[in-house]
Amino acid sequence: MDVEVKGIVKSFGELLVLDHISFNVRSGEFVAVCGPTGCGKTTLMKIIAGLLKPDSGEVLLAGEPVDYRRHNIGFVFQEPSYLPWRTVWGNVKFGLEAKVSSLGWKLTREEVDKRVKWAIELVGLEGFESYYPHQISGGMKQKVALAQALATDPHLLLMDEPFGALDIQTRYYMENELLRVWSKLRKTVIFVTHYIEEAVYLADRVIVLSSLPAKVKAEVDVSLPRPRDVTSSRFVEIRREITELIRWW
Ligand SMILES: Nc1ncnc2c1ncn2[C@@H]1O[C@H](COP(=O)(O)OP(=O)(O)OP(=O)(O)O)[C@@H](O)[C@H]1O
Ligand SMILES: [Mg+2]
Repeated sequence: MDVEVKGIVKSFGELLVLDHISFNVRSGEFVAVCGPTGCGKTTLMKIIAGLLKPDSGEVLLAGEPVDYRRHNIGFVFQEPSYLPWRTVWGNVKFGLEAKVSSLGWKLTREEVDKRVKWAIELVGLEGFESYYPHQISGGMKQKVALAQALATDPHLLLMDEPFGALDIQTRYYMENELLRVWSKLRKTVIFVTHYIEEAVYLADRVIVLSSLPAKVKAEVDVSLPRPRDVTSSRFVEIRREITELIRWW
């Protein structure tokens, strides 16, 4: 689904957070939004999801103003979104049922089970359906969050620093798992991170935001074949270009 972010302005009281943010995402594209801590990335993602209203500007999904009750959008939040007293299966089902009710869909119990099973297999959690969150690793918890977000087969997947709390090895593993899922489904993805390397590793294009109030500083194309070699000279060059942009503005 094409996404158009047009002139988004958002303040909280006196604090101007987003200052005329505009960019487009093509259907099937993987875009990273990279900016320093506290610059307004989560606020922007909530606005793109239709969960928060901007002061001015608009977000169009396939040419229509975003409406979270109408558009099928998957969201992986920065904060954990699982319930500790539910199993892996129960958590994915809970996430699906919440989404289904806000979209006003009517699904039979069989359809719900089929989607939960599909999402669990897609992220590679089969065999762990009856495990509770405290019995699985951090990476697996993020797979639960991804399965929750994918269970409705959304047209747009929004991910807000989903791997921020993981150790570096698990992060690399999860980045590759995400690319595996993405190459299979070819969803439009907007992925927020403050790790430049992660943005360059994952995305077709990186939108670079300034510190508060956030403006779009640059859009950097990453036309490198996947899987990417983080030590290749072109990769290092793009990473340096974005680092300079973030450092000197
Ligand atoms: N509901 C709110 N009410 C008041 N201020 C808010 C609210 N939400 C966010 N802010 C402020 O807006 C600014 C941007 O917050 P936001 O969470 O969007 O940044 P972020 O880039 O996601 O940060 P991080 O990298 O830490 O996740 C911060 O100064 C924050 O305090
Ligand atoms: Mg945030």
